[in-house]
Amino acid sequence: MKKNIRLETERLIIRQYEEIDLPDYHKLMSDRKNMYFLDDIITSTLEESTESLKKAIEANKQNKARRFCIALKGTNNLIGAVGYEIREVTPLGKIADPMGWFIMPEYQNNGYITEAAKKVLEFAFLHDNCVRVVTGCYKDNIPTQKVMAKIGFRKEAEKPKSQYHDGIMKDRLEYAINKNEYGKAVESDNVLKYTAAELEEARFALTSTLRKCEKIDDGKKLGRSQQTLLDRRIKALRLALELIEREIVN
Ligand SMILES: CC(C)(COP(=O)(O)OP(=O)(O)OC[C@H]1O[C@@H](n2cnc3c(N)ncnc32)[C@H](O)[C@@H]1OP(=O)(O)O)[C@@H](O)C(=O)NCCC(=O)NCCS
Repeated sequence: MKKNIRLETERLIIRQYEEIDLPDYHKLMSDRKNMYFLDDIITSTLEESTESLKKAIEANKQNKARRFCIALKGTNNLIGAVGYEIREVTPLGKIADPMGWFIMPEYQNNGYITEAAKKVLEFAFLHDNCVRVVTGCYKDNIPTQKVMAKIGFRKEAEKPKSQYHDGIMKDRLEYAINKNEYGKAVESDNVLKYTAAELEEARFALTSTLRKCEKIDDGKKLGRSQQTLLDRRIKALRLALELIEREIVN
């Protein structure tokens, strides 16, 4: 994926980082209190933030991660971050691990991260060929657990006193969502508009139309413009069938 990815929700623009984001990025990343649970990525100086931003831009370019910043619509100012690392590319698709998020304190509890993370999950499963997205948090991070539950993550493990943080060993929670579960989650959210029966019916109708077109192609000698039109129709029908078949398999 070469192009800069830009996603849009009702209230937010979710886009990949640019160098001009540095002042907001530094404000976000160096907020010691807000980044309490993220002490592995917190920065202290502008130089550290510059280096961290450079790495984020590079990781995006090299398809090692999809790291996005979040801006309110109508502004370009970064207020938060959401994204995932691409841990593994399997023959079946990518495993995103971990997915993470944070937002400036003054914007919290407005549903922004739920809105942004939902969109990024949609991007991961429907446009980035992910088969699994993994996330997690310390057990005392209640807002993150709420977000995970709201967007369809399922708890896979609770590891008691497994990670050192702030002077003590803490319980760690691991959550994940697989592509088949995502399909069901969006279905129940009324986002996926087609049932399995509707997809089968569409496949049947398209297969029959495609056969008819192919018969014409085999039989008659057509004029140039009619032949071009027929070629385009056959191509479009094959493409539509392939997409429907992929959806049925998943
Ligand atoms: C976690 C975080 C990203 C959530 O962002 P947000 O935009 O405020 O999230 P939302 O508004 O979409 O949802 C937050 C939910 O947590 C709930 N919540 C917030 N503080 C809470 C608390 N102390 N106790 C119980 N629930 C709480 C909110 O009520 C809301 O749930 P609801 O919609 O059911 O009411 C944000 O709190 C944050 O940036 N925290 C610091 C960084 C961090 O910990 N990142 C995650 C590291 S794993």
